[in-house]
Amino acid sequence: NWTTTNVVEEQVALIREQVGSKRAICGLSGGVDSAVAAALVQKAIGSQLTCVYVDHGLMRKGETEQVEKDFVAATGIQLKVVDAEERFLAALAGVSDPETKRKIIGREFIRVFEQAQAEIVAEAGASGEDVAFLVQGTLYPDVVESGGGTGTANIKSHHNVGGLPDDIEFELIEPLRKLFKDEVRMVGQELGLPEEIVQRQPFPGPGLGIRIVGEVTKERLDLLREADAIAREELTAAGLDRSIWQCPVVLLADVRSVGVQGDGRTYGHPIVLRPVSSEDAMTADWSRVPYEVLAKISTRITNEVDEVNRVVLDVTSKPPGTIEWE
Ligand code: XMP
Repeated sequence: NWTTTNVVEEQVALIREQVGSKRAICGLSGGVDSAVAAALVQKAIGSQLTCVYVDHGLMRKGETEQVEKDFVAATGIQLKVVDAEERFLAALAGVSDPETKRKIIGREFIRVFEQAQAEIVAEAGASGEDVAFLVQGTLYPDVVESGGGTGTANIKSHHNVGGLPDDIEFELIEPLRKLFKDEVRMVGQELGLPEEIVQRQPFPGPGLGIRIVGEVTKERLDLLREADAIAREELTAAGLDRSIWQCPVVLLADVRSVGVQGDGRTYGHPIVLRPVSSEDAMTADWSRVPYEVLAKISTRITNEVDEVNRVVLDVTSKPPGTIEWE
């Protein structure tokens, strides 16, 4: 029978057996899944684990600092932060197609992990055992929707499943592969992770890279980061963090519309708000966010974010729309 204690005990034993005396690295994204996976593997193999946080420049405002501070404080985990913004942006230059973006991001993640692996081995010195394992916080829905399940359609290549390159050298450890998000949260609680980590809203590994419809550039990312920070701030202030599953904020970079601001004509981009409620992200409904909250977000985004002159609300459930736009 399913209890979080059983899941933890079973996985700890399996991971110990799989890793032996070798070393593992775990990609941390700031999200719940990778945090719980890391904590679980740390419980199993302790200091044989090093976490790697890849700052790909597609993060939200404040995200990197939060991982560096909160997660390390909560777990005492060994963390290596890699600044890979230039590398990711260069690889994404000129690319608009969503699946191509996902594949590029998945590939670059692995290339960065390989480099980190070499550095970790070098730092451990001659006696350091090789790093052979990569821990990922892959969940059951990621597997299913990437077409890795049985008889299911390939909807999207999740960065850590269908988006992986073929020539990957790591052996994967995916202790959450059979779990849904609510179960992962329970496991995180069992492992003693703080509420702020366990109850965080989901955020995709490819980050804002799949929330810009069109090419991903530094300027566009900066715009979106501002708009996203405003939406998050107001939704939190309104006390809606728990009732909303997540709220992607999307920049329609290839669309422009005419507006008027001050006494001049503008020709700017729309921002889409996509608040949803869900149990497991497999299906979702659009959230009925109070009008006053939407009004405040809209006013602030159009006033505070250059180049954005329109805010629209996505009122599509999943299906037919997925939660993310790409
Ligand atoms: P969709 O857009 O498929 O999203 O309805 C379902 C859930 O998965 C998240 N998502 C991802 N998470 N890597 C992740 O870690 C990914 O590549 C990825 N793509 C989507 C999305 O935010 C939602 O919670």
